[in-house]
Amino acid sequence: MPIKRIGILTSGGDAPGMNAAIRSIVRSAYYNNLEVLGIRRGYNGLINGDIIQLSQSSVGGLTGRGGTILYTARCPEFNSPEGIAKARDTCKYRGIDGIVAIGGDGTFRGLRDLSHAGVLTCGVPATIDNDIACTNYSIGFDTACNTAADAIDKLRDTMQSHERCSIVEVMGHRSGHLAVYVGIAVGANAILVPERPYDFRQDVLEKIYCTRNRGHSHFIIIVAEGAGNAIDVAAQIKEHTGMEPRITVLGHIQRGGAPTVRDRVTASRMGKHAVDVLIEGKTNRVVGILDGSLQDFDIYEALEMKRGLQDSMYETAVILSRSV
Ligand code: F6P
Repeated sequence: MPIKRIGILTSGGDAPGMNAAIRSIVRSAYYNNLEVLGIRRGYNGLINGDIIQLSQSSVGGLTGRGGTILYTARCPEFNSPEGIAKARDTCKYRGIDGIVAIGGDGTFRGLRDLSHAGVLTCGVPATIDNDIACTNYSIGFDTACNTAADAIDKLRDTMQSHERCSIVEVMGHRSGHLAVYVGIAVGANAILVPERPYDFRQDVLEKIYCTRNRGHSHFIIIVAEGAGNAIDVAAQIKEHTGMEPRITVLGHIQRGGAPTVRDRVTASRMGKHAVDVLIEGKTNRVVGILDGSLQDFDIYEALEMKRGLQDSMYETAVILSRSV
């Protein structure tokens, strides 16, 4: 039976480009004569019936706006059979045939359970961590990289003036994608990531000494939040070099701001694909880009996939930060 009405929600940490994805889903759905409801505050909205109508005009001007107009939240209740049952009942009551959820792995686990309960589901990957295994790229990553690089460029100016060492902690949860990209982009002297063990003397101190020997007197060290703590790194540098490093934890600023063109376009493409998936009657799917092509995967398989740090990317970062 053809579907008539779909719901959209955003869940987990927000990411720049989520609004562009919402707009794309709404416009693609109306193009195919589907009605669209917006479910607010993640899966909570599905449990509590916190739902609004989304018209074509309600999503005008959204491509360039950060955050998510639907709000987002993590919803522990959705992990229980009772939570899923309530969500399924809401879908039945509101005539929702399919749900598109924009978020990360936790969001997709929710979709998997909802699809078991008989609702068609499709996920759209959005997280600044870029750690979703079934896709080379997640919405929000490029914007977060640009935001962090811009902040660190500014830090470099003042570090250079005062001949200081800057320790910058970037987000990424348990992954170092953001740290490596940003580290390459700003020409960091050292980059510490959770996926690769590091030797403090060789991977931090030696790099500082070599940089100093080449006549430089300021240093930028990037620490991924999953690799350790900027305060500990600063304390060790102080102990061994006598320098008094300054610490900057970039924090949630990395999740905000207007999405870059890459994020706007990727979100728009992925959103449209998700609607096509539901119209085809598929369920338990998640959209991804692998080797440049837009695809969709079974959520079970997607959650089993592993995504490490690309060796060549890490190697590039290490080689470029060496200054012998
Ligand atoms: O997953 C996105 C992310 O920003 C991570 O990089 C970070 O560890 C986490 O979310 C922070 O979560 P919260 O917004 O709940 O503090």
